[in-house]
Amino acid sequence: MSALTVDSLRKGGSDQGALVAITAYDYTFARLADGAGVDMLLVGDTLGMVVQGESTTLPVTLEHMVYHTRCVSRGRSRALVVADLPFRSYKASPAQAFDSAARLMAEGGCEMVKLEGGGPMLETIAFLNDRDVPVMGHLGLTPQSVHQLGGYRVQGRSPDQATALVEEAMDLERAGARALVLEAVPSEVARRVTEALTIPVIGIGAGPHCDGQVLVIYDALGLYEGLQPRFVKQYLDGGETIRGALGAYCREVREGVFPAEEHSYE
Ligand code: KIV
Repeated sequence: MSALTVDSLRKGGSDQGALVAITAYDYTFARLADGAGVDMLLVGDTLGMVVQGESTTLPVTLEHMVYHTRCVSRGRSRALVVADLPFRSYKASPAQAFDSAARLMAEGGCEMVKLEGGGPMLETIAFLNDRDVPVMGHLGLTPQSVHQLGGYRVQGRSPDQATALVEEAMDLERAGARALVLEAVPSEVARRVTEALTIPVIGIGAGPHCDGQVLVIYDALGLYEGLQPRFVKQYLDGGETIRGALGAYCREVREGVFPAEEHSYE
């Protein structure tokens, strides 16, 4: 299959069905996910939590994102690579956002950047779009706003909030966003947003009516044992599997079973 481009992001997904996105932070997982047929690898700033062990995404730097984006880009052959603009790298001004996005594209090798937020980000989205930076928006629960939001909570529950979210999403599309991540909103609200936009909406904790789905790979594989939102589905009990394998390694080394002859040089 040929490599995906930003242009190939279609409303409703692809011929094969809904768009499939997953986060990736390194070469090996990017290769595995790409080989499994994932359409989009998102180098999420969730790496702050699942890779670096921070309690929020806020400490992640642009240097970290460039490094991990480069690792992921080397591991993909077909999937589109999208990288998050981290908290301190774009909110000050459109020019700051352009400098940061340009590094993620030129040094990291991604095709698109994602940024969080609605109204205050419209000028930045238009600025980036006019300067050849494809932008993915992110609305609903925006983890970089965790302190403003008062925690990781479902968004858009009241009728007024739901209507505001639909309008914000339409503004983002008008400003030039090429796709949207919608996080932790009721399914019915996500359906309204998806129907209101002509760009693909990729949900996480946003129910089944979106054009695609994204999960954090450490959650999907059961590797991250911190906060587990209700919307996560574990496709593997990776934590148990890895603990079991490493337990066997410990036993075999201690008992002199490993290395055996076939693992040793003459
Ligand atoms: O940072 C991230 O991994 C994300 C996903 C949760 C969508 O933004």
